[in-house]
Amino acid sequence: MSSKAVAIMASGKGSNLKVILEAVAAGACPVDVQLVISDKADAGALTIAREFNVPNVIHVNPKEYDSREKFDAACAELFDQHGCQWIVLAGYMRILSSSFVRRFRGRIINIHPSLLPSFAGAKAVEDALTYGVKVSGCTVHLVDEVLDGGSILAQAVVPVLNDDDRDSLHARIQIEEHKLYPQTLARMVNEGFEIKGRKVVWKASS
Ligand code: GRF
Repeated sequence: MSSKAVAIMASGKGSNLKVILEAVAAGACPVDVQLVISDKADAGALTIAREFNVPNVIHVNPKEYDSREKFDAACAELFDQHGCQWIVLAGYMRILSSSFVRRFRGRIINIHPSLLPSFAGAKAVEDALTYGVKVSGCTVHLVDEVLDGGSILAQAVVPVLNDDDRDSLHARIQIEEHKLYPQTLARMVNEGFEIKGRKVVWKASS
């Protein structure tokens, strides 16, 4: 297995996938995106992956599997088949089964549009606005069995403005996501990290 081979899972428009592929093409992120999987046939992410000539771009249809575990096992088989060391979730909207998370423990990362542990879950941006926080941001974290609960790899902060709505705040958060995700992925490959308790300690800065 190449330590740089990566699979990306995405359900949506794929802007995070795009910036990762751009960073790879520019030589700024030394990973090898071998595989892109989406659970949605019409995901923008699949179109972007094809435009960037990712070697394996696959729609895995949840309707063809009678359980979450079986769907995840089909994806796991693809990761193994293509020698993927890292699984990068980029707007992937399905909850992963515990067996899948255990199998790839420490090798799955996600980006979430809030400063975790605040506002886990699918409505992070709305929840931050409703709560009235003055700053929010994004978090890149390892995935464990707790929803949005794994160890934190990196975070970036954005201000929340008086007249923000969901779209304006999310757009400001995404500007930071698009810098943070490729940078963090590059760091994972270049520096590596250890986990002490809950804490991620980057090797180059320990
Ligand atoms: C991002 O805001 C990310 O934090 C969340 O889903 C969104 C995906 O956006 N997990 P995109 O499809 O990468 O544009």
